[in-house]
Amino acid sequence: MFKFDHIGIQTDDLENTVKWYKDFFSCEQNWTLAEFSDLTLKRLPSITQLVELQTGNFKFHIFDINSQHVAVPNNAIQYQHFCLQVSEKNQLEELKNRWFSLYESGFYKFKLNDPATDIVTDKDGVSSFYFYDVNGLEFEAMYKP
Ligand SMILES: [Fe+2]
Repeated sequence: MFKFDHIGIQTDDLENTVKWYKDFFSCEQNWTLAEFSDLTLKRLPSITQLVELQTGNFKFHIFDINSQHVAVPNNAIQYQHFCLQVSEKNQLEELKNRWFSLYESGFYKFKLNDPATDIVTDKDGVSSFYFYDVNGLEFEAMYKP
C-alpha cells in the first residue's frame, strides 16, 4: 500500500544543506518552490524556499526555517535516524570516506563536530555506519547481504 516518498529536512542554512546533500548523497535537484499554500504557511510560518533533491528513489525536501534555530535535544521525541541501504558492501567504505573528505574540506558548515562512526557488522552480516548531516540530523548507511 505504501511507497516511500520523501523526508522533510528543515535547516537555517539552505545553501549549505543543499550543497552538502548534492555532494554527499549525489543528489540531483528536481525543483525549487518559493510560493506556498495557506496550509504550508500555517504549519511552517517561516518557510521561504523549498528544494526537492533526489538520489535513486530517495527524495529530500529541504526547506529553510528562521535563524532562531535550536538544536534538538538528544532525548527529544523525534525521528531519530533514517537509514539508506546500499547495494554493494564496498559502497559503505566509499560513503564513509566521502563523509570525511567533505567534512575536512572546509566547504560546509557542520553544526556538530561528531565524526562518522566506524562500520560495524552484526552476526547476520549486516554492516552499517552512522553519520550526521550538516544540520546534526543522524543517518545510517547499511548493507544487507
Ligand atoms: Fe537503524
